[in-house]
Amino acid sequence: MRMSDNEAPRKKRVFSGMQPSGEAHLGNYLGALRRWVDLQDEYDCIWCIVDDHAITSGSDPQEMAQHVFDLAVSFLAVGLDPERALIFVQSDVPEHTELAWLFNAVTPVGELERMTQYKDKAQRFESVPAGILNYPILQAADILVYKADAVPVGEDQRQHLELTREIARRFNAAYGETFPEPEALIGEAGRILGLDGEAKMSKSLGNTVGILAEPDEIWARVRTAVTDPQRVRRSDPGRPEVCNVYSLHRHFGDDALLDRIHRQCTTAEIGCVDCKRILADNITRAFAPFRERALHYRAHPREVRQVLEEGAARARALAGETIAEVRERMGLHWRRLFG
Ligand code: TRP
Repeated sequence: MRMSDNEAPRKKRVFSGMQPSGEAHLGNYLGALRRWVDLQDEYDCIWCIVDDHAITSGSDPQEMAQHVFDLAVSFLAVGLDPERALIFVQSDVPEHTELAWLFNAVTPVGELERMTQYKDKAQRFESVPAGILNYPILQAADILVYKADAVPVGEDQRQHLELTREIARRFNAAYGETFPEPEALIGEAGRILGLDGEAKMSKSLGNTVGILAEPDEIWARVRTAVTDPQRVRRSDPGRPEVCNVYSLHRHFGDDALLDRIHRQCTTAEIGCVDCKRILADNITRAFAPFRERALHYRAHPREVRQVLEEGAARARALAGETIAEVRERMGLHWRRLFG
């Protein structure tokens, strides 16, 4: 088909994935999801629940289905939109794992061993599963099977994206120009520090709060947040610059609120509990529409299933084209001889 002159140029395509560990949490929202929602206005978006990745980190088979469902509900609740984006579960599109296998042919083991995430994770095992080493190959396949132009990820995924580009380059050099080199869209939110004020927010560390949590639960979690350690008594002035609660306020309050909290903290006009109360209230208000939409989807699980199945069917059609092209280029086409 020829492109006519007035045909709109193809929108750039974005891909990103998230592991299913249940309901999304505050860190997922601030670091990824709220950005994904906005990207849908400008890009052709593909959002994937990466269960094939999750099995490399010892996920519990008994819990996987629930975790996938809860993350899917979270996606829909925050506004990932099946009318405008593909939303599906990775294992429904086996083309990802097939391409990952084919990429083994162009991926140097040395590059995999250099990945800092690999080195961190490998320390936890006496005998390291190959899936931990090969994890970034599957990630490259996720992205490249759709020939995505850009990938919104956190800073911690930069190295994996560089490897994805390297795999694209090596494949192109060996078998002919096939893949674009996708660009990493690194979020400006930076690392979202957990409520413990120590580690990156993560569900497994218990230092966060679910985006669909009830108001009293939000308060119960936020109340535990670590503030300025030097502020011992209510009458001590606080230091917002070193306070993680203050940095979380930035995401939920406007400049006027931030100025006010800054002043009231440094003059001990309010205590840390008051300050956390304001934060909990603002989070509760910001997430109220998510809770409402989640209620609907939880009551109508078939709608969620339908979104994921339609997403997978459309994704398979796209991914299948790339797989056909790659098989051809790599010589997996024995039928040729048979006319
Ligand atoms: N590794 C990513 C993470 O842990 C998840 C992921 C899997 C991903 N495949 C992807 C992210 C492809 C972006 C693109 O956050």
